[in-house]
Parts: sequence; structure tokens; C-alpha cells
Amino acid sequence: MNRITKIAAGSAVCAFMVALSGLPSAVAAAGDTPPYKVAEGNKVDAQTLSGWKTWRAMACERCHGAAQEGMVGPSLVNSLKVLSKDEFKATVLKGRIEKGMPNFDTSKMVSENIDNLYAYLKGRSDGAIQPGRLQEIGK
Ligand code: HEC
Repeated sequence: MNRITKIAAGSAVCAFMVALSGLPSAVAAAGDTPPYKVAEGNKVDAQTLSGWKTWRAMACERCHGAAQEGMVGPSLVNSLKVLSKDEFKATVLKGRIEKGMPNFDTSKMVSENIDNLYAYLKGRSDGAIQPGRLQEIGK
């Protein structure tokens, strides 16, 4: 193999690896890989636990119900089946002020935990995580 073909082969490998590294997010977007880990319905990974703590700290249940079943705000068990993650983030951070959904982008806790909050609510929506108190897996 001369030098030029070696370089060409090398960049082909690179392109292949870039394609591979793009796979996990594509799979997650298709909904195959849940963004949370759960055991026995009430034990979750540390990130999802932080999502639940954020939900509690912000008292989202005032409007969406303790089991996300909906009150003045819609049932998030239903909403998370149709909302994309980006739509979720935009709604929670920017709010829909005129419709009664406050914006939470002024909260450091929500801004830092928006992915965790999504993971928690997705787990509730999927029926994988029970309503109520959670603890961390293995603790
Ligand atoms: C003061 C009441 C109130 C609070 C507190 C509140 N929400 Fe809402 N929320 C609403 C209302 C009302 C809507 C419906 C807005 C509309 O009609 O589009 C809504 C909509 C949403 C939606 C979009 C649902 C959909 O189907 O489009 C999400 C997601 C959401 N809220 C999440 C949260 C989270 C997470 C929190 C806590 C950080 C929270 N909300 C706190 C009232 C509230």
C-alpha cells in the first residue's frame, strides 16, 4: 500500500467512526432508549432523582397534579407521549405565560436539571416510574 492509499483508508475509517458515534442519539430520538433507569418502580438513577427533586422543589404539582394526572394544567402523563424533548424544554423554560404556564428559565435548578426533569416525567408517562417518593438505585 502506498502512502496515499493509506491516508485514504484512514479517513474512510474516520468517517465510519463519526457515523457510529452519531448512532446513540438517533436511537434515543426514536424512543428506543429511555432517558431514565428505574428498578422496582421507585428506584431511579441519580439524574432522574434530581429531576424528581426539581419537580418537587418547583411544586409543579400545584397545577399538574401530584401524579402528573392534570389539574388546571394538562396531564403530563399524556403530554409526554406526544411532546418532543425540545418542545418540552421550550415550554418549561419559556413558559406559555398567556395560557397560565409560568416560565422557569429564571430558576437555576430548573435550567440545570431540564434534562433530568424530562427523564423523570418521561418515566412517569411511560408508566415505568411510580408516582410519589423516589430513591436512588443502590442506596
Ligand atoms: C401556575 C400553574 C402551573 C405551574 C406551577 C406549572 N404549570 Fe405547566 N402548564 C400549566 C398550564 C395551564 C399549561 C397549559 C398551557 C397551554 O394551554 O398550552 C401547562 C403546560 C405545561 C406543559 C406542556 C403540556 C402540553 O401538552 O403541551 C409542560 C411540559 C408543563 N406544563 C410542565 C410543567 C413543569 C415541569 C412544571 C414545574 C417546573 C410546571 N409545568 C408548572 C400550568 C402550570
